[in-house]
Amino acid sequence: MSFPVDKLPHVGTTIFSVMSQLATEHKAINLGQGFPTFPVDSLLIDLVTKAMKDGHNQYAPMPGVPILRQRIAEKLMRRNGVHYDWQSEITITAGASQALFTAIGSLIQKGDEVVLFGPAYDCYAPAIALNGGVVKWVDLHYPDFSLDQTALQAAITSRTKLIILNNPHNPSGKVWKKEELDLIAKVVLENNLFIISDEVYEHIVFDGQVHYSMMEYPELRDRLMLTFSFGKTFHATGWKLGYAISPKDWMTSFRKQHQFNVFTCNSAFQYAIADYMSDLTLYDSISPMYQAKRDLLLSYMHHPLLEMIPTSGTYFQLMRFKGDSSLSDTQLAEEWVANQGVALIPTSVFYNDFSDNRVFRICFAKEDHELIAAAEKLNSLH
Ligand SMILES: Cc1ncc(COP(=O)(O)O)c(C=O)c1O
Repeated sequence: MSFPVDKLPHVGTTIFSVMSQLATEHKAINLGQGFPTFPVDSLLIDLVTKAMKDGHNQYAPMPGVPILRQRIAEKLMRRNGVHYDWQSEITITAGASQALFTAIGSLIQKGDEVVLFGPAYDCYAPAIALNGGVVKWVDLHYPDFSLDQTALQAAITSRTKLIILNNPHNPSGKVWKKEELDLIAKVVLENNLFIISDEVYEHIVFDGQVHYSMMEYPELRDRLMLTFSFGKTFHATGWKLGYAISPKDWMTSFRKQHQFNVFTCNSAFQYAIADYMSDLTLYDSISPMYQAKRDLLLSYMHHPLLEMIPTSGTYFQLMRFKGDSSLSDTQLAEEWVANQGVALIPTSVFYNDFSDNRVFRICFAKEDHELIAAAEKLNSLH
């Protein structure tokens, strides 16, 4: 007998798992999935060991270890100038993924409409569908991924409840402009909506650009949930730790679900990160480090048919294939992982309608020698 219910009939295994699997099979350089290959700071590893030796090996409090939530509140005040109450407005989660899933679950009911900007990271739409919500797609203009004001306004109906924003943006590497964020804030307020701002790449911004966080709009405070990822910020994606912040009443509802999703996240890592975060200058070196990696990759890429599309943030770089081919971007990615020995992510998977611009997402959070070797392999494409 086959399993009778499929609540996500259009969803298969994510492209990230598929391409990583193919990369392993073909012994290819994996520039597909978004994870660093360079080591985590040894100080942080030592702090985890210390936390375990100090006996922090049992359940942490449901919303997270107090000292870590206090450190987050301190960071929000010192770096963003905003006050969030660590006791009632900050919750530690199993990565930003769980924060997003729970945030959406705590708000969306059957028939609610949610605006997503396409292309979009892949975890939002399934969470909306599982809660009975309906996605209204607003596609960003290709190739600069700018926001179309008319399209945004046209997507809003009396059933719209939520807008989900991702800034800096995966997969495009876009850092949203202040005018675009002003417009989104205005639309949220005028239509009495909620907003989730996924800012996991907040510390990866290049070329002197500024990342404006939605938390810097005081008028949105009552209707805003933000999600962050320690995995992304501290190069430890496998630790699956992140956090959500929101006003108290939304967080109360969030925690009702969080306590049954995971109850709490692992304690030793929370203590270690809390200790590590006491140095507020940690974040200053992240953007320059990634910008040097992006520039290294760009300096080695010189294939006439592979056009690099400018990226301003995240650790992703888009690349357009300008050659003649009847293959889709996914087929090309499959061919290249086998023949060129480099795994990339085809960006059609980030679109609702699988728009195929023959554009590929490259993750450059990799060791320099891997970036150079991958560029050379891509340059040999014919
Ligand atoms: C935009 C975006 N949001 C959320 C996540 C999930 O983060 P985490 O690994 O902390 O769950 C990712 C991971 O790739 C991401 O790119």
